[in-house]
Amino acid sequence: MHRRELPTPALVVRRSTFDANLALMARRWPDHSLRPHVKAHKSTALARQQAAIGHRAFTCATPREVIGMATAGLDADLLLANECIDPARLSAMARCSPNVTIAVDSDVTVALAARHGITKVLIDVNVGLPRCGVAPADAGRLADLARSHGLVVRGVMGYEGHAMGLADAAERRAIVERSMDKLRAAHTLTGGDVISAGGTMTWDLHHDSGITEMQAGSYALMDSFFAAHGAPFASALFADATVINVSPHHIVCDAGLKALAMDHGLPTTDAGEVWFLSDEHATIKPTRAFTIGDRVSFIPSHVDPTVAYHREMHVVDDQDNVIDVWPVDLRHW
Ligand SMILES: Cc1ncc(COP(=O)(O)O)c(C=O)c1O
Repeated sequence: MHRRELPTPALVVRRSTFDANLALMARRWPDHSLRPHVKAHKSTALARQQAAIGHRAFTCATPREVIGMATAGLDADLLLANECIDPARLSAMARCSPNVTIAVDSDVTVALAARHGITKVLIDVNVGLPRCGVAPADAGRLADLARSHGLVVRGVMGYEGHAMGLADAAERRAIVERSMDKLRAAHTLTGGDVISAGGTMTWDLHHDSGITEMQAGSYALMDSFFAAHGAPFASALFADATVINVSPHHIVCDAGLKALAMDHGLPTTDAGEVWFLSDEHATIKPTRAFTIGDRVSFIPSHVDPTVAYHREMHVVDDQDNVIDVWPVDLRHW
């Protein structure tokens, strides 16, 4: 099948660009030094490609991702880099594989993990992003508490997400330095072999930060937001749409808010200037002539939620032949 025969809206992955992104990241962070984040693609088929080049430890954001990865046999070392207080989900993660580690950041998350069969934890440290994570100075006490519950404390994680939206590399570097000072200080209190942090926008700023593994995810498929902020990976993911209306000053395509996440702004396209999206429509001021039925390809502005809107990604070669389909099988929570 050719790409233009796909029913739209359709997610399309350019294989050669995807491979180049994986190769670039793997040169800097080979094998277990990269723990790719599954939340950016939610696909065991895509994760298999990452495992095939040596990255067999994975980061997950949801119990569904952990359990799905384990069911697919991709469970060499799975980290839920997120807090979970749902007893049923904790038990299901504990049952699905012996190789599950989860983040804990409070007495409650420690107690629940131990009570529901989890055996290994990372102490999640707040390194500056106002989200989850224990205060660095409290990390040692929490690690001791976890050990008193019989849990293995593998080390610490600390996501410097407040650096990711900054276009200025010097500002990003300063945040990485401050954040990793906190993470290393916490690690001296907790012990353990693992210091886990990082993301696509800070992948090259961790020379001497002390981390043992990088958690990047978006680099594989990329999006226009991270590209505009200077990440050197190329857009491998597209949302293809069909022109359904041609008006004197604009055209309309059949991909809207339900096909393209908008939290990082409008998607981009070489078809013209995207004016706005509505539920099922994209309105564009075109830069060339279009007729009804023509195809338009969008680069999403935020890869993670965009992928989560779709059931599958169609993989194409450089001639736009569809050569594979990767189900987005880890959607939902
Ligand atoms: C805990 C955690 N680690 C790492 C990342 C980095 O992901 P990305 O490479 O997509 O920026 C994220 C993204 O939100 C995250 O939540």
